[in-house]
Amino acid sequence: MRLIVDQLSKCKIVGNLTESSTPISTSTPATACLIRISKNFEHFADDIIADLGATLTKRLGQEYFLLKCHNPNTITNSDAARYIRWNLVMDHAWPCRPEKMKDFIEKAAQALFQKFGGCNLQGVFIGVLEASSTHNPYKSLASNLRGRTLQLFTDELAAFKEVEEQEVRSPSLFCLVGKEGLYCGIRSPLQANGFYPGGTKFISQKAPHTISRAGAKIAEALHYLKLHQPLPVEGSHWLELGACPGGMTSELLERGYRVTAIDRAPLDERLKGRKGLSFKKADVARYNPVLQTQFDSLLCDMNGDVQVSLKQVIRLSENLLPGGLILFTLKTHGATTFKECNSLYHEAIKSANAGGLEQIACTHLTYNRHEFTLFLKKTK
Ligand SMILES: C[S@@+](CC[C@H](N)C(=O)[O-])C[C@H]1O[C@@H](n2cnc3c(N)ncnc32)[C@H](O)[C@@H]1O
Repeated sequence: MRLIVDQLSKCKIVGNLTESSTPISTSTPATACLIRISKNFEHFADDIIADLGATLTKRLGQEYFLLKCHNPNTITNSDAARYIRWNLVMDHAWPCRPEKMKDFIEKAAQALFQKFGGCNLQGVFIGVLEASSTHNPYKSLASNLRGRTLQLFTDELAAFKEVEEQEVRSPSLFCLVGKEGLYCGIRSPLQANGFYPGGTKFISQKAPHTISRAGAKIAEALHYLKLHQPLPVEGSHWLELGACPGGMTSELLERGYRVTAIDRAPLDERLKGRKGLSFKKADVARYNPVLQTQFDSLLCDMNGDVQVSLKQVIRLSENLLPGGLILFTLKTHGATTFKECNSLYHEAIKSANAGGLEQIACTHLTYNRHEFTLFLKKTK
């Protein structure tokens, strides 16, 4: 068995679990890192890699880029970070053809145990490099490899944590397998930017409560939020701007939230009479909540100019409780270059801060297209 990346002493985690502000000189030896960039932003891949000060080693699957990186902290702390769905610093890579190999699962599981046994991990999670294809034979391979690896780690892991039970700041072993081989690293979910290997949580978009594609966006956004803070409690009251046809509204109602939804277009008929829903057919700019109404959270998925939408969000955040959560879809239409997209974001943050809103996170989710999901909170 030949390993191309095995550059670390056993259990050493690359980068602190908290961010380091220490400048790293270009003479620092390069670290192998795997980043995932969605097809939506693939045309910015060269800019993203340059922004990280990294060089491309090779592409893996449809969306993964194996890099040589001098400062892995830039992956979570740079303009490029918003475009990187998920990342892993490579502690162990085995380029091979798993499907052609006799006893791949046993050999790979033994190698993982030998390398990572005794590393005080909270869990082992194995996904696939080619996440988007539906009939992917590597899905069962990943699941069988995880099963065998967990058997070997039985005495190591205090309890078998399922993926959503992970502590966000504790180290997990994440692995990705595909026709190009096996790629693994120790990362906390917060560092990797997601609980799942590869960062994608599959969200079923089947009826009855799925009304539009946007429903998956809010479902994934609420899941992602758990990396940063607890979800709003059941019964919380959301103000939703630009709600039509109502995919997001439906998801919020499904979770036991109350929703006041505003749109100049009508909501889907299927939402009629849904418990907890109040709908106002109006232009958001003309909408004024009943005096003293206090919302817990605000959601804005309005199309149109970002600054125009943000202006309404800031105005209506007057009716948000202190510390209230704001989810804002930052649409990048009209910004064609990496630089323009970044300016759009920085201008948005400037306006939000001036309006008393502070960023919690900003990322590109699986169900986002040419847009980011921006998580803000009201500072007072
Ligand atoms: C992308 S769609 C929203 C999809 C929705 N989140 C869902 O889950 O189905 C954008 C919506 O914003 C609404 N919109 C844009 N500007 C608006 C404004 N000034 N006032 C009211 N609605 C607006 C549009 O009518 C449109 O329905």
